[in-house]
Amino acid sequence: MRKQFQDEPFEGPVKTASPLLPVKLTLLQSRYFARPYRPILLFLLIFILIMSSLHYKRAPATDFSIPSAHSGTTRMAICLVGGARRFELTGPTILKHVLNVFPEADLFVHSNLDKNSFKLGLLRLAPRVTEVRIRKPVTIPETKAQRRLLSSSSSPNGIQGLLQYFDLVEGCLDMISAQESRGRFKYDWIVRTRVDGYWTGPLDSSAFKPDSYVVPEGSRFSGLNDRLGIGNRSFSTVALSRLSLLPRLASAGFHDLNSESAFHAQLKVFNISAIELRFPFCTLSDHRYEYPPKWYGVPVASIGSPGPLSGAKCRPCIPSCKGKCMEKLGPRMKNWSGWTEWRNHSLELCDGSRPWQKGWEKIFDEVSGKKAANVRRRVKKMKIEECVKELEGLKRKAEKWIGPDPIEICNLGLVQA
Ligand SMILES: *[C@@H]1O[C@H](CO)[C@@H](O)[C@H](O)[C@H]1NC(C)=O
Ligand SMILES: *[C@@H]1O[C@H](CO)[C@@H](O)[C@H](O)[C@H]1NC(C)=O
Ligand SMILES: *[C@@H]1O[C@H](CO)[C@@H](O)[C@H](O)[C@H]1NC(C)=O
Ligand SMILES: *[C@@H]1O[C@H](CO)[C@@H](O)[C@H](O)[C@H]1NC(C)=O
Repeated sequence: MRKQFQDEPFEGPVKTASPLLPVKLTLLQSRYFARPYRPILLFLLIFILIMSSLHYKRAPATDFSIPSAHSGTTRMAICLVGGARRFELTGPTILKHVLNVFPEADLFVHSNLDKNSFKLGLLRLAPRVTEVRIRKPVTIPETKAQRRLLSSSSSPNGIQGLLQYFDLVEGCLDMISAQESRGRFKYDWIVRTRVDGYWTGPLDSSAFKPDSYVVPEGSRFSGLNDRLGIGNRSFSTVALSRLSLLPRLASAGFHDLNSESAFHAQLKVFNISAIELRFPFCTLSDHRYEYPPKWYGVPVASIGSPGPLSGAKCRPCIPSCKGKCMEKLGPRMKNWSGWTEWRNHSLELCDGSRPWQKGWEKIFDEVSGKKAANVRRRVKKMKIEECVKELEGLKRKAEKWIGPDPIEICNLGLVQA
């Protein structure tokens, strides 16, 4: 089963032979065919009909063949979390390389409301949208136990930043469970990833492993890379319960955890093995990081790096370090810290200590191609009217929408024309 699914290329629905049928019918009726031939032609027609129906029945399986404990339809949920800060740059890549690759998957979106939320309107082009939640940011009360358990130094916004992120991730489970009870079914697979993921290649079906939870390689920061996760329903329940499992981690004796080590601890407590794979995406970031990165530092990759970057922080830039320079810097990264695979020239570094460089737009356009460049320009010039139209489109497409009215979201992000 597994082998078969790995060998099978991912393609759109297989076209049936049915468009041929009208032609056969007209031939059959035409006067060129004398009566004696008609039984033969009739037989041929029936044969074609049977073959095409067999072909059709097979189509869904080849279309969506990730391994499942039982045969039949495999149900998959994709949950996108986080802020839409640069979604005009990442959105088109997520559509192309994740959502359109799994057109039968249900999409869930969980994001905080801010002046960039309007960019989520790009998701109206997703094959299916199940639920969109855009919520006003809430302060999550911090307990003493949490302050002991978590380390504030690891996150740009301290413990509150961590709790907010955990809460967004756990929101995926709420939405997914609610959808399951509405439809009386369970998802087989849950893919959790980020709104700020910049994808350069397709999410491959070989990343669905029945016995482990799959995460990207590297960027471990003393734990496990938590920028993407793929697992079956029960493993994903553990992986996504980031807030509610904190007391459990505390009672197991963990302390001073950052996001990655808390994530690792969650899987450990439940004896879930993790597999690290290389994935063709990076995390587009506006944060600044020391350059050149120290051994414990955060490398900022150029989005044009050959990759795969497996979720490393990135931005559009003219690399400050590649080739020979990377051979010097690469070995300094510690594999339990910000390490990202750099050998074979896969990693090219930006100077992350400054803001995005002047002219980054041109660099982005060149790396990302015409289509992505057009989206970037369109969103940059977007007026309220178009924005409302797009968000209304997303709202209509979503089975469930929990968030402000599109007009409110657009007003927040765009100045009135
Ligand atoms: C997930 O995988 C594990 C290990 O193969 C298995 O024990 C568990 O029953 C699976 N859960 C679901 C819901 O399929
Ligand atoms: C994990 O494994 C340990 C040792 O085998 C066992 O004591 C513990 O109960 C297991 N935990 C869970 C949640 O299965
Ligand atoms: C990190 O490197 C050490 C030794 O250099 C090695 O023993 C260990 O397995 C590596 N860890 C991972 C997660 O690759
Ligand atoms: C580097 O490339 C070679 C040849 O393509 C390949 O065998 C090897 O696994 C690659 N190494 C890494 C670390 O990607």
